[in-house]
Amino acid sequence: MINALRGMKDTLSPHSETYLYMIKTCSRIAEQYGFSFVETPILEETALFKRSVGESSDIVGKEMYQFIDKGENDVCLRPEGTAGVVRAFIQQKYDKAGEKRRFFYHGPMFRYERPQKGRLRQFHQFGAESFGESDVREDATIILMLKAMFEALGIGFTLEINSLGCPSCMPQYRTTLVKFLETREGLCEDCERRKLTNPIRVLDCKNEHCKVLLADAPLIIDHLCVTCKEDFTTLKSILDQFGVAYVVNPKLVRGLDYYSKTAFEFVSSEIGAQSAIAGGGRYDRLVEFLDGKATPAVGFAMGIERLMELVKMPESSREGYYIAALCDGAKEIVFKLVDEKRKTEKVLTSYASKSLQNHLKAADKLYVKFCVCIGEDELAKQSVWIKDLESKEEKIINLSHF
Ligand code: HAM
Repeated sequence: MINALRGMKDTLSPHSETYLYMIKTCSRIAEQYGFSFVETPILEETALFKRSVGESSDIVGKEMYQFIDKGENDVCLRPEGTAGVVRAFIQQKYDKAGEKRRFFYHGPMFRYERPQKGRLRQFHQFGAESFGESDVREDATIILMLKAMFEALGIGFTLEINSLGCPSCMPQYRTTLVKFLETREGLCEDCERRKLTNPIRVLDCKNEHCKVLLADAPLIIDHLCVTCKEDFTTLKSILDQFGVAYVVNPKLVRGLDYYSKTAFEFVSSEIGAQSAIAGGGRYDRLVEFLDGKATPAVGFAMGIERLMELVKMPESSREGYYIAALCDGAKEIVFKLVDEKRKTEKVLTSYASKSLQNHLKAADKLYVKFCVCIGEDELAKQSVWIKDLESKEEKIINLSHF
């Protein structure tokens, strides 16, 4: 027997209904905020992720589904959505035109991580990316949009924010941090590697020994330039004004290398160790880094599987019809009726020869509002038997009135 691969799963009803409900709800809100849908390929050149997500990240270092295809191209399954959207933005020359563009997307992402609750190898994200707006109010808008999505889905959260600085304050802070790291002996292998590639990422290390060694590490938040400091203050005051509770986490650095300035994460205390339900931030250097014209950008992505555990679906009401034949002779008319009624209604059916009781049971399980049956009697009188499964009312009506 062949099973799905480890860390990958099927999404079947009723979970698939929750999945669709989430996508529909978030898409509607993203459109209200002026984002348009974008679909980019799942397979991209490996270099795209190496240059954007970054060599120092776990994603590129350890988790890529990378292979050489039949044309000798080095390709990989996308581990996240931002890089592909940035590539598309540049490929369409929107950067050269200096256009402001807002996109949203959803679909599967792939990371070869150790599977556990809330951590899959194929998982799904819903994300949004905004290009061309350098004002921190766009960062605030992205956070408010996420809040609107979580509220619509009935999901509670804690918001953590930080500022990672910009090219005018980051390099100086980096030097200060590296000097500090040189005084620390016994850092884990990952931290030793990050010390050379992207030192700020050491602050994110989960190793308990590193956490102790780095307890009094200098923090970027204390080394921001005037502009970054002002922007961070504006962001906080907008969040205060709009009643969005947040915690400043000066060690929040995110697991991807492309961020600058605003970084944020939404966490939930209700889903266990893998508590990050969404993350994002500003990435003003990425378009240029991928050979485009410098364009400010900010975005986020949420993990759909993690959120599915938390979504409160609205009470569903009975909907549509179940139409069945009680004798072979009625099958033809039932087939026609089902086809006709489907033009305006949701209609389910069964061709199995079952008693009225068993058809009623099936209709009830399918949660339709009406069960309609045609037997010998109804056929002779050109009528249908119909039961409202909500009010329990039963009646026989003329076929021409159905
Ligand atoms: P990320 O923090 O790597 O950011 O992923 C975003 C969300 O995807 C996480 O908060 C989590 O909910 C979910 N997620 C990540 N890995 C897994 C996994 N193995 N299994 C299940 N869920 C997972 C990004 O991907 C950035 N591209 C976000 C972004 C967009 N930043 C700017 N624009």
